[in-house]
Amino acid sequence: MVSLSPSLQSRLATPLQIGDFAVQSRVLQSPLSGVTDMVFRRLVRRYAPDSMMYTEMVNATGLHYVRELPKIMELDEQERPISIQLFDCRPDFLAEAAVMAVEEGADTIDINMGCPVNKITKNGGGSSLLRDPETAEAIVRAVVAAVPVPVTVKTRIGWTDKEINILDFAQRMEAAGAKMITVHGRTRSQGYNGNAKWEWITKVKEILQIPVIANGDIFSVEAAVQCLEQTGADGVMCSRGTLGYPFLVGEIDYFLKTGQLRTPPTAIERLACAREHLLALFEYKGDRGVRQARKHMTWYAKGFTGAAQLRGELCLIDTVTQGVVLIDRAMDVLQQERDIA
Ligand SMILES: Cc1cc2nc3c(=O)[nH]c(=O)nc-3n(C[C@H](O)[C@H](O)[C@H](O)COP(=O)(O)O)c2cc1C
Repeated sequence: MVSLSPSLQSRLATPLQIGDFAVQSRVLQSPLSGVTDMVFRRLVRRYAPDSMMYTEMVNATGLHYVRELPKIMELDEQERPISIQLFDCRPDFLAEAAVMAVEEGADTIDINMGCPVNKITKNGGGSSLLRDPETAEAIVRAVVAAVPVPVTVKTRIGWTDKEINILDFAQRMEAAGAKMITVHGRTRSQGYNGNAKWEWITKVKEILQIPVIANGDIFSVEAAVQCLEQTGADGVMCSRGTLGYPFLVGEIDYFLKTGQLRTPPTAIERLACAREHLLALFEYKGDRGVRQARKHMTWYAKGFTGAAQLRGELCLIDTVTQGVVLIDRAMDVLQQERDIA
């Protein structure tokens, strides 16, 4: 049974201060490409009204040449606090993109220095900046000079196990003007494999003045508490644990604020959420939204009788109606099982 120690509770009782921007929650929803669009963020926000959220990462070079705001940069009037995440390796393009992001309403600008995907790293962006700290510094300085809002960095602990340079890198980011750093405790070569090495986050926290957010393997309230205790971090950021489970950030936030565990959603409630997610994606993006919804739907369909078959069917849906019919049928079956029990 997880418990909240008085020392942890009091350490986290104050707002998370990102430069002059205060956030009333120590739990953040990470940027997830192909996932954290406005529809998903609305669901997360329902259960975690105070938490910082991030858009999917936005390509600054793309913005420079196209000059038209991509849909992934769209923000809801009400959604606060919100950060727009940018990626690139050109300080001037990133500064320009940051100005557009602030016009769009971003409370902070986050620079992606952790993405491991080849397409991004071969162009000098994402985690390849760990190998080019001078450019990373120049990026932070340029963006800080361009916008009035706090600039933050999200990165990994190094390129490979033999090149773990997060301590020097994080200090450089702070000196360049970053107001918060999120550290995913894996190297680039690890991808998403193996465990996140939280011990490196502990070391980063010991040497920085700005807030340090721990990221990697926060799949539960227990993991969040353990990570916060172990690392001394100023907050935790949830990522894969929120796929098909937009309740997680709110559950952790609630626990850190009250010491109480929120009752987890039943399978029927999770399916009701999946249904709402599907309909909202269709409304927001049309048929493209339905295609994107397939993966979300399969993430929701877990942990109940018939889930495997439902997943197989949901990943083939072509229309919103097909999806709704499948979900309604599964919910009926679960309801009948509940009535019998
Ligand atoms: C599908 C997917 C998309 C991601 N997209 C982004 C992104 O756009 N920007 C970013 O900084 N990190 C991105 N990440 C990395 C996560 O934010 C996070 O750092 C990583 O998943 C580690 O946390 P976890 O172990 O809790 O999943 C992505 C990860 C996944 C699985």
